[in-house]
Amino acid sequence: MKIGLLGYGVVGVGVCEWVAQCPDMHVEKVFCRRPKAGIESITVYDAQEIINDPTIDTVVEVMGGLHPAYELVSAALKKGKNVITANKNLISAYYSDLIALAYENGAALRCTAACGGGIPWLVNLERCKRLDTVCEISGIMNGTTNFIMDAMHRSPVDFSEILKQAQELGYAEADPRADIDGDDIRRKLVISANVAFDTLLREEDVPMFGIRTVSAADIEAFRQHGFVCKLIASALRSGEKVSAYLEPTLVGSGDLEAAVPSNYNLITYTGEAIGPQSFFGQGAGRYPTAYNVVQDCLDVLRGQRDFYAAAAAPAEMDPTAVMHPYYVRTEKEDGWLSGHIADRWDCGVVTDAVSVSEMLTWAKQHRAVDPTCFIAGIR
Ligand SMILES: NC(=O)c1ccc[n+]([C@@H]2O[C@H](COP(=O)([O-])OP(=O)(O)OC[C@H]3O[C@@H](n4cnc5c(N)ncnc54)[C@H](OP(=O)(O)O)[C@@H]3O)[C@@H](O)[C@H]2O)c1
Repeated sequence: MKIGLLGYGVVGVGVCEWVAQCPDMHVEKVFCRRPKAGIESITVYDAQEIINDPTIDTVVEVMGGLHPAYELVSAALKKGKNVITANKNLISAYYSDLIALAYENGAALRCTAACGGGIPWLVNLERCKRLDTVCEISGIMNGTTNFIMDAMHRSPVDFSEILKQAQELGYAEADPRADIDGDDIRRKLVISANVAFDTLLREEDVPMFGIRTVSAADIEAFRQHGFVCKLIASALRSGEKVSAYLEPTLVGSGDLEAAVPSNYNLITYTGEAIGPQSFFGQGAGRYPTAYNVVQDCLDVLRGQRDFYAAAAAPAEMDPTAVMHPYYVRTEKEDGWLSGHIADRWDCGVVTDAVSVSEMLTWAKQHRAVDPTCFIAGIR
């Protein structure tokens, strides 16, 4: 396999190191926008030198972002080159376009590292579907937010303080919004749900609530009631309908998710026959992520051509399918909330079972009234 690498950052460096251990593959050229130490002899500053090189059969895209990644990946597929990418933004946004392009041009398209970093999640989801029907996927799909929630449960600390620590340790980006508000997880959920259910979800179809307003007092209340709070993404299929959402979730202190430490991830699918199967590991980082990128290269080298799912049809979203109680903390209780209160805890209330879409719509609007409000679904 002769590889043209797009991007030589955190993941790109790891890809080169893993590939160096594989006798059947070689990185021929690396596209960079500025010189990088150690790869001078194979650096190109025009990506077309990779796209138009007939000796390069596989393009590994680890630049990130939508553009020019989309244009370059599309051009590579049109030339019949295999594409391996870790780019969740790209796959989530151009899911059906890229699958179709790969199919039309007889090229392989794989993106295992895009969902779950180093966890063999998409490949096992694909394997499950060979025999069984997936009815649900859910889990902790972001290491930054799990690091924050885990630390807040270990000792009383304010969100802003622990976010700063996460940034200092390199677990959180300088701009943390994509992690703490849920966009990063939502992209992984859209890709995972599309693969699991052969659907075509759009990011905007998936309601979400992040963790930026969780407080030390909330965590103490959860602890007193035997719960642990985790940011959990879920998607379910019932018949032809799909519901997908992500929200802070109170799980029992004995549940699997409650035990996920630090920046680890845990993702579960439930097959109709096989029941739940969970995958735990490093959801990000140089070597875990590059590991799955190079595993994809090895699969393609051994003849894997297909994407994880074939046909994709737009999903009929079912906003009322999932209902459960919620913890809500707000300084501005309104009529809708008052009508749903079933219990009062020290700093918040617990509602009766409310549909997820109704609660997440209310919470989004309520943030304009009380920007500090926090909600968590109770499982
Ligand atoms: N890091 C992780 O743990 C992780 C986990 C899962 C998935 N991913 C995905 O993997 C991809 C790469 O992530 P990363 O962490 O390696 O990012 P990164 O460290 O920022 O590396 C990106 C590389 O691509 C280069 N690049 C970006 N835009 C470019 C452009 N327009 N032209 C030329 N070069 C360009 C950057 O060049 P400069 O050095 O000049 O900026 C950098 O070398 C992303 O899609 C990310 O979502 C990452």
